[in-house]
Amino acid sequence: MILETDTVINNLKNALQKADSVKAVQQVKTRFLGKKGTITAAVKKIGALPPEKRRDAGQKLNQIKKTAETLIKDKMNNLQTAGAATPSGNTAAIKMPGRSHSRGSIHPLTIIKDEIISRFNKMGFLTVEGPEIEKEYYNFEALNIPAYHPARDTQDSFYIQDDYLLRTQTSPVQPRIMEKTPPPIAVVCPGRVFRRDTVDASHSPVFHQIEGLFIDKNISMADLKGLLHHFCKSMFGEDVKIRFRPDYFPFTEPSCEIAISCPLCKGSGCSTCQNEGWIEILGAGLVNPKVLSASGIDPEVYSGLAFGMGIERIAMIKYSIPDIRLFFDNNYKFLKQFV
Ligand code: PHE
Repeated sequence: MILETDTVINNLKNALQKADSVKAVQQVKTRFLGKKGTITAAVKKIGALPPEKRRDAGQKLNQIKKTAETLIKDKMNNLQTAGAATPSGNTAAIKMPGRSHSRGSIHPLTIIKDEIISRFNKMGFLTVEGPEIEKEYYNFEALNIPAYHPARDTQDSFYIQDDYLLRTQTSPVQPRIMEKTPPPIAVVCPGRVFRRDTVDASHSPVFHQIEGLFIDKNISMADLKGLLHHFCKSMFGEDVKIRFRPDYFPFTEPSCEIAISCPLCKGSGCSTCQNEGWIEILGAGLVNPKVLSASGIDPEVYSGLAFGMGIERIAMIKYSIPDIRLFFDNNYKFLKQFV
């Protein structure tokens, strides 16, 4: 006999047992089945045997070859599924935990914006948006702020061309909507606004507002009070106190400023409320009839209420954030606290 079946297979098994990588298994394969391998060499010798022995020897060697191939294949599969090696022979630690990616979190201003909007959506207000680069007409004129009006001084901005500027408030969305939509109208408009301002703990030249507009027949200060009362309570809790005081805006008449009792000190005075006990959070009023008619709505038939609030201010109160700059610093440690 050219090869002893048991011996070859046992040798092969021993060699495979020691092989602990794909590369090692490939070497064993070459040793037994390669061009100069033990089994291949034996096959070559068949021709030299006496004719009556060739058939028998051929069958036996075929059997050995098949068994060897199966053993090698099984070993290779085992190694690969165990993840001990890659086909190239490099060890790859497939079982190591993958590199984790931090999930990121929603920006606190986005959280608060969504929360405010969803409260008004539940009361039937639709969300609409206006452009950040706004026509002077919508930002001022249509809101009853003509070129000579002193209210323009407090709202200086970047002018892109003569009659385009970075909007200083979200109020220009009011005439934009009123021009296009017949009443009743109930919308909230979130967005970014820009003002020439020096950066400090409570001022930023870029900040965010949410505008509200409700136009229908017989809208009165009572509606305004009820609506904003409900909003403040739902946002800051049932025991928050709400203060309405007269104010002035060219586009509302009458106008008011709404403050809430400081949720941190409950009204006794602290640094957040600058020892006032109150924090102003909203400007509001009944839409000035001049604004209604400028936008094509008959003030004899319809009346409306409008309000505007700063998102940063509300987020600072809600989360006790002492400095507005934190919102824009992109400090990961700060941002990841908000989920
Ligand atoms: N646009 C005003 C501001 O930026 C706020 C406001 C909106 C006041 C709507 C009244 C009505 O200060």
